[in-house]
Amino acid sequence: MKHLLTMEQLSKEDILEILNLADQLKFQKKNGIPHERLKGKTLGMIFQKSSTRTRVSFEVGMYELGGQALFLSSRDLQIGRGEPVQDTARVLSRYLDGIMIRTFDQSEVEDIAKYGSVPVINALTDYAHPCQVLADLMTIREFKGRFEGLKATFVGDGNNMANSIAVGCLRLGMKVSIASPKKYEICEHIRNFAEKEYPGMLELTNDPMVACKNSDVIFTDVWASMGMEAEKHEREVAFQGFQVNDKTMSVANEGCMVLHCLPAHRGEEITNEVFEAHANEIFEEAENRLHAQKAVLVKLMENKK
Ligand code: CP
Ligand code: NVA
Repeated sequence: MKHLLTMEQLSKEDILEILNLADQLKFQKKNGIPHERLKGKTLGMIFQKSSTRTRVSFEVGMYELGGQALFLSSRDLQIGRGEPVQDTARVLSRYLDGIMIRTFDQSEVEDIAKYGSVPVINALTDYAHPCQVLADLMTIREFKGRFEGLKATFVGDGNNMANSIAVGCLRLGMKVSIASPKKYEICEHIRNFAEKEYPGMLELTNDPMVACKNSDVIFTDVWASMGMEAEKHEREVAFQGFQVNDKTMSVANEGCMVLHCLPAHRGEEITNEVFEAHANEIFEEAENRLHAQKAVLVKLMENKK
């Protein structure tokens, strides 16, 4: 594994290897056992969108691994003034041991990987959010103890989270159901991926009650992602009824988990009651960003160069 660009690139074995290492790193941190596996290494973190969790967890993660992280806002980089990605990637590769990037187009992340010479990590694009989904899978295993045979459901926009959740959960043997309003369904690429590699395992519906029935894990996410602010009002209308609430929870399996990548908009995609009833799962999920990403950093950057 040279980069982390999408969930699709990871096999089931790759994912399990990352999760096992993440569990080990979490144990070491909790027990004060040093694990400075990236001593002297520097990660550059390019942000073209806002972030709380991703920025802080990567920065703390690099510190705990004995290295350091540089926060590089596109507002300050020459990339924001039009310097080509190909040049930025080649320059930064001369200074850094790894590049993490949060941006809009998936192609930009792929270009950094193509033109640079150090590992690249996708920290969210409009297409994918693999770092988040690795933390989500880690959390599911902590609470449920297994993946095989579970049903994971996503209620909401067919967005970056829906794409990466579908791929990650299918890879680990879960059934997946996605409920989105018409016109906001998951993209063709993911539908084709599921049809080809996991026939019969992905259900798509426009009815959240159908999707939530017999679920073991229910995910949701904001109705308007970063960069879609102009569509906010139109989306508020289109997504009416696409809320995780007592009604959707009532048809799920006993002990069904609720996960949310955060930030959450209570009263929109999730009620305050359901959010707070599952806060222990949701904040463990947020914490697990740190451990899962440390595992990715070690896999990509340890003993390289
Ligand atoms: N879930 C997530 O990626 O959060 P941030 O946008 O705060 O990084
Ligand atoms: N779908 C959301 C996820 C935020 C972590 C967005 O892209 O804004």
